[in-house]
Parts: sequence; structure tokens; C-alpha cells
Amino acid sequence: MSLEKVIEGRTPLLVPEARTESGPGKKQGRVFYNHQMAFNRDVSVMFFAHPEMRIGRALDAMAATGARAVRIMNEARPQTEFHINDWEPEAYDVIRQNIALNELEGCVARNEDLRCLLAKEKFDYIDLDPFGTPVPFLHPAIQALRRNGVLAITATDTAPLAGTHAKKCVRRYQARPLRCVFGHEAGLRILIGYVARQAAMFDRGVEPLLCFYADHYMRLYLRMPETAESADLTLEKLGYLRFDRETHERETSKDWSKGASGPFWLGSIHDPAFVKGLNLIEGLAQPNRCKKYLDLWQNEIDVPYFYENNELSSEIGCSPLKLERLLEGMAEIGKVSKTHFSPTGFKSDQPYAKVRERYIQMHEGR
Ligand SMILES: C[S@@+](CC[C@H](N)C(=O)[O-])C[C@H]1O[C@@H](n2cnc3c(N)ncnc32)[C@H](O)[C@@H]1O
Repeated sequence: MSLEKVIEGRTPLLVPEARTESGPGKKQGRVFYNHQMAFNRDVSVMFFAHPEMRIGRALDAMAATGARAVRIMNEARPQTEFHINDWEPEAYDVIRQNIALNELEGCVARNEDLRCLLAKEKFDYIDLDPFGTPVPFLHPAIQALRRNGVLAITATDTAPLAGTHAKKCVRRYQARPLRCVFGHEAGLRILIGYVARQAAMFDRGVEPLLCFYADHYMRLYLRMPETAESADLTLEKLGYLRFDRETHERETSKDWSKGASGPFWLGSIHDPAFVKGLNLIEGLAQPNRCKKYLDLWQNEIDVPYFYENNELSSEIGCSPLKLERLLEGMAEIGKVSKTHFSPTGFKSDQPYAKVRERYIQMHEGR
């Protein structure tokens, strides 16, 4: 396999010459690298550079070239022993070369099926980055996480989660998805809810530090305390969502009733104090995008769905309002914010009927 040197962020990396150039990435050859995921790895670098993040023993369980962990160790410089694993022997070889190229101490290349590795060893941080769904790897990862450890998960199976393949979502996540304007947020909440239900089986809770949707994937950073109380508290944050296609009203409930979708995670998707402490560090691969998302995450209000500007304009039969003007006007009736899920969406703590009424008033210049 021929390799070439690229620079991602501040890190030189050896990656296969033949590789994925766009989209979620398909496997091409035996070692995978997708430079479109550089933003996802930028966020990992910021995560490890967080002033309150102390992780002793970490595992990049599905590392391919090792790009994520090698960048974290080179750019965030945490006091962490990072195990960088892939079951493909050729990937293991590239991981070793990337550790050497960056002259990193504290990195250990591994070449195992992650399920075997996780049956033997425990970690404070485990990163799962599969092709598609993380479901087959969740139980081993949850059980191998040390008390209060962090589980990071990427899921690229957004079509089932967001309701395009509803039956697959029911089979895989045992949850009924919602195909609607806020379907990607609903999908992210199905994924967190699913992890929470699996964690509870092992007396573990789930505390989202940062969870987001971008491009073609969902990404979760979850702290997982290990007590029965935290598992019980976590389960209390699950519930159902109903979207009325006639009235556009969204409604949450603790219990299932006919026509409701879920179960969903209805708690916060970010820890506000943690997200406030995330800093834009020097030399990231996509600094402007990171700055934009940091701002969105730090200001996003805690409501489990959002509204779309053109949902309102086309339902009312008028032209869409300018987003900044819309936010100003909606602030007069309640809490409002932009949302990272959609550049044309917004969150409000008010019901659709109130938002609609205010939208019409704004159109009339009030
Ligand atoms: C999407 S790629 C990971 C990309 C990588 N994290 C990055 O940022 O470039 C998924 C990787 O998981 C590896 N993998 C799949 N199943 C595995 C298993 N059971 N144990 C270890 N590695 C596995 C594959 O060989 C592949 O390299």
C-alpha cells in the first residue's frame, strides 16, 4: 500500500494514497482515512485540551491510521497514556509509523479485535468510530470504562436514526424514529437514549458533555458514572416525542401513547459549564468552522427540538424572515437561540402556535 504525507491541523500524518474524498467514507483498501472528518478530530483535540479534562488511560479503539489519537497527543498534549488500536495489521503498521513520525511518547499501538481488548483491560476514555453503527461495540465499551470514564462515539448510520429507514432504526436501536424537520436532532436523541438504556443495565448513568450532529454523522461525548442512582436518574430523562403534522406542534411526554415516537433522550445534549470551557486552540484544521460550532453549542438553549424558518413561512404562506430578525422577535415571547442542527433553524421554548402567531406579527412589521 502506498502512503503519502498530509498535514491535518498541526500534525503530519501518513495516509493511504487511495482514500475517501467526500461523504461519510467507505472502506477503500485496508486502511481508512477521510480528510472530511478533520472537523470531528478537531473537536477531539479541543476536548482533550479542555482545562478540566484529565484522562489517564485512553483507547482509540478503531483508529485506522491513528489520525485522531495522534493528533490529540501532538496538539492537545494531554498527560494521557493513549492506546491506539485497529484490528487490521496494515492499519497497525501505519499507526506505528504515525506515532514515530510525530515522536510521541505515551502512545501504544495495538492490533486487536477491540472486543477482545476490552474484555481484558479498562480505560478512562474509549473512542468508538465504526463504519456505520456503534451498536455491536457498546456493551464491551461500557463494561471496560473505568468509574466516571468518558465514552466517545461516532455514528454514521444517520438514515435509520433520522427516520429514513424507520424499520432499521426499530431493529437496531429499539426506538421509533421521527422523520420530520428536526429529524436529525431526534436521531441524535435516539442514539443517546439507546446508550443510556444499555448503560443502565450495568448500573451506569450517562451525562452528556457534548453531543452534536454534523455532515453525515452524530458524535457523542458521554461521562458515565458508575452508580445505580446515576443509572436511575438517567432513565428518568428518557421519554417520547410527538409531532403533529397538521398543527406542527411538538410535544414531549414521559410515557408512551399511541402515535408517539421514541424513546428519546430528553435531557440536555451538552453540559453548559463543560462546553463554555472548550477553547479554540491554535492550528486546528478547520478553525473557522470550529469557532462557529463552539458559538452555537455554547448558546443553544435546552429544548429537545427546533423549528425551521421555512417550515413557518411555507405553512403560513409568506416569505421567510431574516434569521437575525426572527431571533430578535422571538426573544420577545420566550427563550430563543440558533441551533447547530440547521443553519436555518432556531430553538424556542414556546409552542408552535405561539411562535406562528409571533411570526405573522413580525411579517406585519410588529
Ligand atoms: C471509520 S474507520 C476509523 C477512522 C479513524 N478513527 C479516523 O479518525 O480516521 C473504522 C476502523 O475500525 C476498524 N475496526 C472495525 N472493526 C474492528 C474491531 N472489531 N476491532 C478493531 N478495529 C476494528 C476498521 O479496520 C477501521 O480501520
